[in-house]
Amino acid sequence: MHPYPSPQLEDSFGRRFPYLRLSILDACNFRCSYCLPNGYRAKDGRGKYLDVQEIQRLVSAFARLGMRKLRITGGEPSLRRDLPELISVAAEATGVENVGLTTNGATLHRHLNRWIDAGLTALNVSVDALCPERFERITGHAGLEMLLDAIDQALDSPLRSVKINAVLLRDLNDDQLPKWLEYLRDRNVTVRFIELMQTGDNLEYFQRHHYRAQVLESHLVKEGWQLLDRATDAGPAREYQHRDFRGRIGIIAPYSANFCAGCNRLRVTANGDLRLCLFGETGVPLRPLLQSDDQFSALQATLIRQLGLKRAGHSLHAGETGLIQHFASIGG
Ligand code: 5AD
Ligand code: SF4
Repeated sequence: MHPYPSPQLEDSFGRRFPYLRLSILDACNFRCSYCLPNGYRAKDGRGKYLDVQEIQRLVSAFARLGMRKLRITGGEPSLRRDLPELISVAAEATGVENVGLTTNGATLHRHLNRWIDAGLTALNVSVDALCPERFERITGHAGLEMLLDAIDQALDSPLRSVKINAVLLRDLNDDQLPKWLEYLRDRNVTVRFIELMQTGDNLEYFQRHHYRAQVLESHLVKEGWQLLDRATDAGPAREYQHRDFRGRIGIIAPYSANFCAGCNRLRVTANGDLRLCLFGETGVPLRPLLQSDDQFSALQATLIRQLGLKRAGHSLHAGETGLIQHFASIGG
């Protein structure tokens, strides 16, 4: 028998949580029009971000309770100088099998090898358009070409998984599918189209640019794309493949029926608040329990208790967006 009986994080709906998304800062150097259209502005009174030691304790506690995959998000995580150290702390925690990073890729070409050396196994890069002008219009950033080169480098690297995220936006990138198909023909990569979600800050934008993922999905099915079986540890995407294409397409449709039933993730903000749901109304501060190694049991007990409170699903349909003003604060 294992020397430590290992309780598993499980909620009252029988969902397990092998996956934690940890935001390590809320600042970003991009101005994605759906997220931070005016760029990042530091809020007054904001505490410091969790430091390496606090993150080490947090990751160990989650891992002891069954977390196997940690995804580091932001804001833009590469803006933290100690990112390689954070990656290695996570990769070295007992029980953690995968460490992923979600990034806008602006510095990918410079940092990729360091991150891999530190123990990174999975990379998600946001690319909202394949036309340079569109890309710049959506993200406020030039440099698409360099970004695509860096992604090709990542595809040739020992990383186990490289995925691209594109948020679907009416009138801004809903004409890009032919370019994506060309991109996917010979590349072993998954591009995931994410349906725009309403947040506290983007209501008007949401109404103007929301594009239903279902429309794209039906089109793909008509064109011969076939739904793959969902792996048990899969994320929220429905993944499709096509015999003429090496790459795959994922659809993330948070407004679709059953989206929440497959939830296998928890989130922690850069200041150490546990978020049970992306769109939840509560954020439980864990930071006070991350100050010394002696607090390990108390931290675990809090995590187990909180999970008992996780609700079956979000209330987005009712227009309730919960606490988030924009995704930079929680990392999607
Ligand atoms: N709706 C859907 N996806 C979003 N992202 C950021 N804001 C939103 C939103 N309102 C995505 C980013 C990135 C991931 C971290 O979350 O494009 O791919
Ligand atoms: Fe930055 Fe990501 Fe928000 Fe874009 S979506 S502004 S890259 S945090």
